[in-house]
Amino acid sequence: MSRRYLIIHGPNLNLLGTREPEVYGSMTLAALNERLTNWGREQELELRCVQSNHEGHIIDALHEARGWAHGVVLNPGAYTHYSYAIRDAVAAIGLPVVEVHLSNVHAREEFRHRSVIAPVCRGQIVGLGWLGYRLALEALEALRTD
Ligand code: DQA
Repeated sequence: MSRRYLIIHGPNLNLLGTREPEVYGSMTLAALNERLTNWGREQELELRCVQSNHEGHIIDALHEARGWAHGVVLNPGAYTHYSYAIRDAVAAIGLPVVEVHLSNVHAREEFRHRSVIAPVCRGQIVGLGWLGYRLALEALEALRTD
């Protein structure tokens, strides 16, 4: 059976490619998702990629993932640093979630150093660009228990 994973890109990540390219690089979100999906296909993984600028939509996507996904790769964008509601959703769904950041948040402003979501995630990957998402999927696959 093919394994299914949800990839969530949070606020402002729809602007990848033009948004602060010195921080986030020049790859668009569509190109990033295509790269990931192609790689996933080779690994026989089914990936669904969603992007939302809205906290509630991200929470709804996490809830719905319970019905079909084996795990989640989550880049919560700036919600990382203050969304207790997304943290609670991650804790509630009982699926392994890996938090990913394109940039090295620890090398940036102090408010980015803290994630309120990471403590309820299986792990966190920062600073490795699009590769972080692939590594997160590899980790979810390697750590699966079923
Ligand atoms: C980000 C880091 C966050 O601090 C920022 O608000 C983002 C992107 C990243 O992928 O590096 O929107 O999550």
